Amino acid sequence: MKRLRFRLTAGFILVIMLVLIILGIYNAKLFEDTYIDTLSSRLEKEAMLISKSFNWESMIRKDYSTLARQVETWSASGEARVTIIDREGTVLADSEVSYQEMENHRSRAEVVQALQGETGTSLRYSHTTSKDTIYVAVPLYVKEDLAGVIRLAYPIQLAKTKVHQLWLGQFVALLIIFLLSSYIGSRIAKGLTGPIEKITEVARDITRQRFGTKISIEGKGEIAELARVINYMSENLEKQMRQIRENEKKLSDVLTNMFSGVILVDQHGHILLSNRASQQILNKTQADLIGRSYSEVTKNLDLRQWIEEVFRYKKGLRNELHLYYPEEKIVDTSLAPLFDEYNAFVGVVIVLHDITEIRRLEKIRSDFVANASHELKTPVTSIRGFTETLLDGAMYEEELLHSFLQIINKESERLQRLIDDILDLSKIEQKKLSLEVKPCHMESIINDVILHVQTDLEKKGIQFSSSIPGDLVIEADPDRLKQIFINLIVNAIQYTPENGKVWIETEVKEDKVIFAVCDTGVGIPKQDLRRVFERFYRVDKARSRHSGGTGLGLAIVKHLVESHHGRIWVESVEGKGSKFFVELTKENKKFS
Ligand SMILES: Nc1ncnc2c1ncn2[C@@H]1O[C@H](COP(=O)(O)OP(=O)(O)OP(=O)(O)O)[C@@H](O)[C@H]1O
Ligand SMILES: [Mg+2]
Repeated sequence: MKRLRFRLTAGFILVIMLVLIILGIYNAKLFEDTYIDTLSSRLEKEAMLISKSFNWESMIRKDYSTLARQVETWSASGEARVTIIDREGTVLADSEVSYQEMENHRSRAEVVQALQGETGTSLRYSHTTSKDTIYVAVPLYVKEDLAGVIRLAYPIQLAKTKVHQLWLGQFVALLIIFLLSSYIGSRIAKGLTGPIEKITEVARDITRQRFGTKISIEGKGEIAELARVINYMSENLEKQMRQIRENEKKLSDVLTNMFSGVILVDQHGHILLSNRASQQILNKTQADLIGRSYSEVTKNLDLRQWIEEVFRYKKGLRNELHLYYPEEKIVDTSLAPLFDEYNAFVGVVIVLHDITEIRRLEKIRSDFVANASHELKTPVTSIRGFTETLLDGAMYEEELLHSFLQIINKESERLQRLIDDILDLSKIEQKKLSLEVKPCHMESIINDVILHVQTDLEKKGIQFSSSIPGDLVIEADPDRLKQIFINLIVNAIQYTPENGKVWIETEVKEDKVIFAVCDTGVGIPKQDLRRVFERFYRVDKARSRHSGGTGLGLAIVKHLVESHHGRIWVESVEGKGSKFFVELTKENKKFS
């Protein structure tokens, strides 16, 4: 911008200088011409006057001394050199040089003209006075006859000195004009470039996306108009940028919070974008992915091959991706080519959906159906077998009839229990179970449970004890609490040999209580500890089935505890006994 100002100012000065120089030269020339014109007309007038007052008698008499006096007088009054020349060109008198020394002047231009009756003028070097001289000659009449010429000469040097003085004066004047106009020119340049500088600065800010600065130029001129347009443009751009940023934020929020993983690969195979879910699914960090080539990022051959396919055929595809590290995952993967507005291929978008849990639930469901049908089949087969045997004739033997009917009764009871348990479990799993939460006095709950299992305890001669604080109250569904403890205590009795011990320990914490149902029974092998809560899982299938167990009890207990927002776990030493821990919160705010 400084350069523009300098160029403008320099341009102004140059133009002004040129104009002034031309004007100066023209003026000087004009002045010189005018001066010479004025001088020659003055000389002409003087010559005329002299010719009028000329004593022609002295000329006729050739009285040189009178003539000499005359020319001297005229010359003294008018500064010019006066020469009198006769018709033949002979010099009769001269105010500066002796007439005898002077040659014939007949051929001098001004004399030639004057002898023709006109005023003669000539500007030339005088050999007599050795100066540039202006000559004016007028004809001299004696009684209307041309008698000679009166010539006046004036050294041009004098005129030139005057012209030079004038030149100097003019130069000073022009210099002042020049300085003034240069100053004004530079002010005008500054006035012009100042706003342009401001506009440039603001425009530069706009390119750096700093929209705050505004140009403050008032007025009506083109530059003010430009400033207004730039301000308007800046405002509009700011609005648009804000809009773009908002949209980007919305998009990135959506992408970030999406459960599905999204990855964008550009046409060169570099990853442009990856959201949080995609990083979780692939077990990578943002830095592992962004800007890297997909082939170096994923070691999974399937995924690489699919991406390559989309690159090659520009067609979308969908597949199930199996990942094994760090854990096994099944990922529903959709790939689609991306095109720009001109339909040119610009990359691939990959959408990943972790369906491991869905697949696991599907498997559990199908396992459950298989297990349930298997479990149901056993008592049904048994009932059918005994019924057929009875029908085949055994019913006529009273003893057999009695014992078979007892078996059939037992099996149908087992069938009933199985169906009840399955229904119960499915109700709990589908969250259809409604809990009636109220404050439960734990000591009374456990007393009710003991009443329920009293006969079993007595049958096996098992000692029971519990250490529940008398004032312990927790918020829960009392019937479900009883169901939990009945299941645990029945198991403890079932898997404890005769004369063993079963007891309940209680640990009361600030807002939680941990109950432990303990026994001195057979215990659970280490490898089975994690699985006892699975549906239909039994450690010793034959014995458990013999004892009438379905393998659903602990699965139901686990669901019930979890629906109370509690936890259940087990510790056990094989051959020594087991401890089933149930942690429950005292105040179950989550229900309210
Ligand atoms: N206190 C315990 N001591 C030793 N093993 C146990 C104990 N409680 C449970 N188990 C083991 O865990 C398995 C699963 O128990 P669960 O209560 O779910 O089924 P179940 O007792 O066999 O049948 P039911 O559905 O009739 O209760 C049992 O078969 C048994 O092997
Ligand atoms: Mg059980």
